[in-house]
Amino acid sequence: MSDSHLRVGHVSKTFRVGKEPLQALQGVDLTVASAEFVTIVGASGCGKSTLLRIIAGLETRFDGEVRHDGRPIEGPSLDRGIVFQEPRLFPWLTVEQNVALGLENAPLDAAAKRRVTAEHIALVGLAGFEKAYPRQLSGGMAQRVAIARSLVNRPGVLLLDEPFGALDAMTRAHLQEELQRIWKHERITAVLVTHDVDEAVLLGDRVVVMAPRPGRIAEIFHVTAPRPRDRKDPELLRLRNAVLDALEATQRGAPNLSAPTRLEPQQRPRERASGVPLAARSV
Ligand SMILES: Nc1ncnc2c1ncn2[C@@H]1O[C@H](COP(=O)(O)OP(=O)(O)OP(=O)(O)O)[C@@H](O)[C@H]1O
Ligand SMILES: [Mg+2]
Repeated sequence: MSDSHLRVGHVSKTFRVGKEPLQALQGVDLTVASAEFVTIVGASGCGKSTLLRIIAGLETRFDGEVRHDGRPIEGPSLDRGIVFQEPRLFPWLTVEQNVALGLENAPLDAAAKRRVTAEHIALVGLAGFEKAYPRQLSGGMAQRVAIARSLVNRPGVLLLDEPFGALDAMTRAHLQEELQRIWKHERITAVLVTHDVDEAVLLGDRVVVMAPRPGRIAEIFHVTAPRPRDRKDPELLRLRNAVLDALEATQRGAPNLSAPTRLEPQQRPRERASGVPLAARSV
């Protein structure tokens, strides 16, 4: 497989709202290694989706540069799959037709397209539902179809914008496991935006904490816990607290604006007492 590293170099993005400029991103620098899993958390409006859309090539007017595998990103590419919070399936197409849409321009004959489509439906655990329509699927199943569609071209990069945000806790936990399995199996480079700090820590090799107004990177945490990960791993729990602290600092308007820091395990902030049940906390 080709090298699929991403390089976001000093990216700034200003929108115009009426006559007022609105700086959505300021000086964002981030390199994502090939086959790395990076998660991004941050307050609403801090530019997470804007950053993901720029990496996807859906947003092309910005300052700075973004490269995939060394080449500038100038528009959408089949080599970068994207999954949104809602599955965005075509209601009049079956599961297999929705997934096969991703192969429309692929240089494959009809039999190969059918085989690849079936493989990806099986990969997300939906074998047997090929002929079902979206209205016949649960929310989690529909989201799995969207993931299969984004993977069917075997992209080097998978971009996910709150993909499990609309799902119940059990389905979400199940799909987090599925996503880890697929990511490992396909050796894909993944960037996932989430409001769920537990999810960010569970899935990420690194967790990027963004700060708002203007959107920028406040801190980067490395997650060294071995995979497959156990949600109850004390290291993950400690790290979750550290990420929450960093997020709270950005909300208080006292962001840690130092260069992205690497926290070695022994340097990690100690778990601190909190009156708020951590499981109920997200941003
Ligand atoms: N097309 C647009 N036109 C004008 N402003 C925009 C546009 N898209 C985003 N913005 C602004 O840019 C900022 C960042 O938006 P973005 O959607 O990237 O935030 P986000 O971090 O993804 O938030 P959320 O967590 O709520 O999804 C916001 O202030 C938003 O209002
Ligand atoms: Mg968003």
